[in-house]
Amino acid sequence: MLIKNRRGWEIPESEATPESAFLNRRALMAGGAGLIGASVIGGAQAASPADPTADLYPAKRNDRYKLDRALTDEKFSGDYNNYYEFGTSKSVTGAAAKLKTRPWTVKIDGLVDKPVEIAIDDLIRKMPLEERLYRHRCVEAWSMAVPWTGFPLASLVAMASPKADARYIVMQTFKDPGQAPGQKQFWYPWPYTEGLTVEEAGNDLAFMVTGVYGKPLANQFGAPLRLAVPWKYGFKSVKAIDRITFTNERPKTFWEALQSSEYGFWANVNPEVSHPRWSQAEERVLGTGEMRPTLLFNGYGEYVADLYKNLKGERLWA
Ligand code: MTE
Repeated sequence: MLIKNRRGWEIPESEATPESAFLNRRALMAGGAGLIGASVIGGAQAASPADPTADLYPAKRNDRYKLDRALTDEKFSGDYNNYYEFGTSKSVTGAAAKLKTRPWTVKIDGLVDKPVEIAIDDLIRKMPLEERLYRHRCVEAWSMAVPWTGFPLASLVAMASPKADARYIVMQTFKDPGQAPGQKQFWYPWPYTEGLTVEEAGNDLAFMVTGVYGKPLANQFGAPLRLAVPWKYGFKSVKAIDRITFTNERPKTFWEALQSSEYGFWANVNPEVSHPRWSQAEERVLGTGEMRPTLLFNGYGEYVADLYKNLKGERLWA
């Protein structure tokens, strides 16, 4: 299939190439091909100064979530992103900056008592914002540690009041090929879709992200609203969400729809279960290039392992 040639995280470069080589490659691409504006090279861009919720940042840090490593410098995490709506390269900062994130509404529908379409700023102001330091482990075997700001997904679930038969929560990214050139690539199953069980969504760790590094989320990170489920591979953490649907059917997610033999619904981090084409035993830390052993559930087993203990026969690790 055509997509076989197009997928960024199949490129072994992301496992082995030192950061300096990435940076050089980006510089070449920006200068040579002229695809990416010069602003990309300088590192992360701040969210628009006109962000109507800017006064809420920085939010108070919740110290329950501790890191075993240094935070990743924003100049690395903010300019090394996966955001296929804006291309398959890691340098999407310039392209994603053009996405209009206001006005923006989030539709909450399906098996809920209180369906609603809510303006993002009303949602953010309604929710209990806090900062959490989380690890993030991409299925491509790189990782970062980031100070997200946001609110527990459980608070949104409580607001929606799911019906008793709701078993899954499905989150979708906006769809607008006029703004997101990647969505003109018809072989991808747009919109980007991800899902959790309602039990997973109620776990303390499941976090809706509205900001990072003490400011509103910059576009390349998934403004104005993304998910962070740090015990799962990063592709579960869907960006730029505009619809959240409660359902009793397990959704077909974006990567699962493309290649179900490699990417599944659960996608929990496990160093012992290799991706079909590379090992997951180690990860490369963004910025430093340090290689670290991958941790089961990305180190969050104490919070989440119980969610899976009765799920025998499910492919929990890919
Ligand atoms: N969400 C959307 N809508 N589109 C994407 O391409 N990529 C995923 C996830 N969410 C992606 C997405 C992948 S593969 C990863 S690893 C993380 O976003 C990357 O998040 P980051 O760019 O903030 O590091």
